[in-house]
Amino acid sequence: MSNSIQGVYQGSFMPLNEIRVSPLSRAYTFSDSIYEVIPYYSGKPLCLDEHIDRFKVSADFLKIELDFSVVRKEIEQLGGSVENHTNAYVYYQISRGVDSLRSHIVKEKLIPERFGYAGEVTLSTDPILAKLNQDNRWAHCNIKTTSLLGNVLNMNDAYGDGCNETILIRDNKIVEGGACNIFMTYENEIYTPGLEENILPGVTREFFISSLQKKNINVKQVDCPVSFLDSVSTIWFTSSTRGVQPIKSILNHGYEMDPNDALFRNAKEAFTNSIKDYFQDH
Ligand code: PDD
Repeated sequence: MSNSIQGVYQGSFMPLNEIRVSPLSRAYTFSDSIYEVIPYYSGKPLCLDEHIDRFKVSADFLKIELDFSVVRKEIEQLGGSVENHTNAYVYYQISRGVDSLRSHIVKEKLIPERFGYAGEVTLSTDPILAKLNQDNRWAHCNIKTTSLLGNVLNMNDAYGDGCNETILIRDNKIVEGGACNIFMTYENEIYTPGLEENILPGVTREFFISSLQKKNINVKQVDCPVSFLDSVSTIWFTSSTRGVQPIKSILNHGYEMDPNDALFRNAKEAFTNSIKDYFQDH
């Protein structure tokens, strides 16, 4: 691991490979922790306020109390360490704290544990291959916790079959990707599954939808049956580390991306322009 990656642990900044944590961290024993991934474009964060707001929602859900002005400052300082890189991200995680001995029940007052680092990311718009999998995750995927075993197993299953991502299906409906939200053009309109407890309310998803609204392109946020896949023109993922990335084909389905889908092209352009506008204002 490169010692040039900047990390922070409990307020102390140091190279990532010098950070030492306890095995009794509740992040380690129970995934009793939450996280955010904030994208940096040429040294500037995109939608930092929105990421902090979602962090607070996650912290409230887990009943973890801490000062988010400190979290924000640390994220900004980590982001500053990658100023020279074109695209980067800050990963920041908060656990409930470190137990004195493993215990499901939290009997002592714990100090929340803060950990983060800044890494590089390559944003690619090249179409990728995906695989359909059953969504076997827990019931609160709208909360950004590090309890991601369902995502990890499905993503690695897809990767093992030569795919870059999985498309999760539950009750015969399209849900989201393993680490991204999903959109599609269907009968010349853009669709994305409406937000429910089993979908993470992606910051990029929201930014993308508002980029389109500015161009009077409507997005239908409704249930999307798997049968949509038989007739969609283009499917794409959105996330902080992917931006907007189309799916070329699906391993276990006949879908093939329509290379002439003008609606998708317009949507992608609206997103790129909104990012430029955002950085003119921030
Ligand atoms: N993943 N859905 C899931 C399950 C995700 O893990 C993510 C993000 C998204 C998109 O959210 P956003 O647009 O706020 O990045 C949707 C991050 C990048 C990760 O876990 O690394």
